[in-house]
Amino acid sequence: MIIAIDGPAASGKGTLARRIAAAYGLPHLDSGLLYRAVAWSLIARGVALEDAGQAEAAARGLDAAALGDPALRSEAAGAGASVVSAYPPVRAALLDFQRQFAATPPGAVIDGRDIGTVICPQAEVKIFVTASPEERARRRTRELLGRGEAVDEAAILADIRARDERDMNRSAAPLKPAADAALLDTTALDADAAFAAAAAIVDARA
Ligand code: C5P
Repeated sequence: MIIAIDGPAASGKGTLARRIAAAYGLPHLDSGLLYRAVAWSLIARGVALEDAGQAEAAARGLDAAALGDPALRSEAAGAGASVVSAYPPVRAALLDFQRQFAATPPGAVIDGRDIGTVICPQAEVKIFVTASPEERARRRTRELLGRGEAVDEAAILADIRARDERDMNRSAAPLKPAADAALLDTTALDADAAFAAAAAIVDARA
């Protein structure tokens, strides 16, 4: 069984995907980490994110072992990911890894932006998770504060809006719900309620 969970930045899809994976006994892939790792590899070497050739080389040489680096969770890596993820050769270089992860029994839960539309259009279950930009900024602020990072909620909201704009308007695999995705708006739901709603979707479709 393949469960595709897509949605915008800080929509809660990552937490949801982890919980769904644990509940249904499936491996989980956070596909955003792949793009974050590509961006971070450039940032760490002082290479401009605009250097599409270097970004493609980093995507081709990506080592799955690098995905555990805590630096990938930073805002800088996330914002950088949304720049390099617009380059079609970067997306192409990361395609096989994601498809193979999904194709390996017993299946997978993969969260991202284009899992239901491009990576796994055949997924049995597709969920598109949304929440208002303000609520997403609140959640991201809480999460960063919890990790001891200094945060400015207004700046986070601006970053979330900029990222939405880039992710929805790029020509390569833009962020949008698959035609057959179930929409899940978590603006008014806490993590437990969001999990219950997602599990109900999985049970209805699987
Ligand atoms: O989900 P996360 O915030 O880690 O994603 C970081 C960035 O990576 C997103 O803003 C998006 O531009 C890109 N991304 C993507 N396709 C995916 C997952 C992430 O383009 N499947």
